[in-house]
Amino acid sequence: MFSKALSAAVNGIDGTIVSVEADVSDGLPIFDLVGYLGSEVREARERVRISLKNSGYKLPAKRITINLSPADLRKEGTAFDLPIAVAILTAFGYIPQENLEKTLFIGEMSLNGEINKVNGVLPIVYTAYRLGFERCIVPIDNGKEGAAVQGIDVYGVKNLQETVKLLNNDCILEPYFIHKEDLAYGDEADNLDFSDVTGQELTKRAIEIAASGMHNILMVGPPGAGKTMLAKRIPTIMPVLTFEESLEISKVYSVAGLLNNSRSLIQKRPFRSPHHTITTAALAGGGRTPLPGEISLAHFGVLFLDELPEFNSNTIETLRQPLEENEVTIARVQGTYRYPADFMLVAAMNPCSCGYYPDRNKCGCSPNQVKRYLGKISRPLLDRIDICIEVLQVNYKELENHKLAETSENIRARVMGARDIQLSRYKDEKFYFNSQLTPKTINQYCKLGKKEKILLEKAFTKMNLTARAYHRILKVSRTIADLDGCEVIKEKHLSEAICYRSLDKKYWED
Ligand SMILES: Nc1ncnc2c1ncn2[C@@H]1O[C@H](COP(=O)(O)OP(=O)(O)O)[C@@H](O)[C@H]1O
Ligand SMILES: [Mg+2]
Ligand SMILES: [Zn+2]
Repeated sequence: MFSKALSAAVNGIDGTIVSVEADVSDGLPIFDLVGYLGSEVREARERVRISLKNSGYKLPAKRITINLSPADLRKEGTAFDLPIAVAILTAFGYIPQENLEKTLFIGEMSLNGEINKVNGVLPIVYTAYRLGFERCIVPIDNGKEGAAVQGIDVYGVKNLQETVKLLNNDCILEPYFIHKEDLAYGDEADNLDFSDVTGQELTKRAIEIAASGMHNILMVGPPGAGKTMLAKRIPTIMPVLTFEESLEISKVYSVAGLLNNSRSLIQKRPFRSPHHTITTAALAGGGRTPLPGEISLAHFGVLFLDELPEFNSNTIETLRQPLEENEVTIARVQGTYRYPADFMLVAAMNPCSCGYYPDRNKCGCSPNQVKRYLGKISRPLLDRIDICIEVLQVNYKELENHKLAETSENIRARVMGARDIQLSRYKDEKFYFNSQLTPKTINQYCKLGKKEKILLEKAFTKMNLTARAYHRILKVSRTIADLDGCEVIKEKHLSEAICYRSLDKKYWED
């Protein structure tokens, strides 16, 4: 007696189909489980055996062999429990084989036959849908998550008996159904708005430019200047998530086990703000069986590194590859794991350890101390930050004369305008934003007129700029021109972009 149930393994944020075969033959009553299995999968043998018994299924004393294929794919985790149990019950005739057709199973089993929540259901259901499966049977607590994928029936089951009844058409269990409108991928209210921030017009302007071209940005300023407050509001001026973006982010959260069953999809642009004591694995992703890190949880949103110099420098170094490639690759003996990590880096720091340099009334740090503090930020990281601004404390007058500042909604409208221009300009390219321009494409898309060339040349010599700084100025001026609805980069755009470089001149090069 032979049977087969289909399941899937998570691979990065995609699923790979795994077939679970069961063979029952005469011989010593042995239960064998093979197929390049991680320890948790090997333990499925005990969980499944006991839960079959406790669910009331009597299995004759036979030799049972379970094989999980493909053989070269390492299988990890507990989600194969359910397909293993189903395959065994089918081999023993409790379920006709044809009832398993076009059906995919995932779920962890308790010893009492209950089916527990697992990670990665969303990407697996999505894969099943793409491959033409008709239904997925998942743990009840993953039901909503799976049902976010339209076009495939997702059943949430609570225990093994219910699963068997469902497969044998013995019970009325409806697939989860979520109206597309209810997936509403708009913003959830969190009451943060740029209008909460008084003054800081220059900083807000720089942030608007950064969000428009997906430029990484560093804010330098004394404690209490409002850096954290500003950073938290950046997602509110980024475009509302599209359904595709929402789905992709949700896959990352699903794999990380961070989707709860109260909603199907992540509906808000991520804002991740890991503490500076974070480990490399937690930031970039990792672990024995890798999981996505903060940079992937910030996918399509903001990764905020507050108090940047306090982070371990080796940890920060791991950001370099994902900042270039918009994804992170983690190599393990059992395979290579890829997670998306397309985020906007926002960093904040004090200019010195006391926080008040260059205010000589408050800062007693020696020039060397300041230098050492700033020197904690590595040059390669600074090279990936297009916009660098000084954030000063708003003065009493400004706070007192608080007039209503512009809302996030207004700013967002301009950001979206600038993004639309970029999307259409780069429609035949492999990138979307000005921040992704390479030296070669800069020449193509950031052409300067005569006056502008002279201006840039002057700044170049006067400020003693590096080639890298030169390219960043051009990229940022491209975004400023786009915000202005201007196809040509004019002097005013260029000179504003130059301002966003003067700070790292002041602090990092003398
Ligand atoms: N421009 C501002 N408008 C309104 N409140 C502000 C402003 N700047 C600072 N604050 C207040 O000061 C608090 C501290 O700001 P914070 O963002 O933590 O500063 P920083 O991160 O630069 O140390 C904020 O929570 C806010 O209440
Ligand atoms: Mg702060
Ligand atoms: Zn100081």
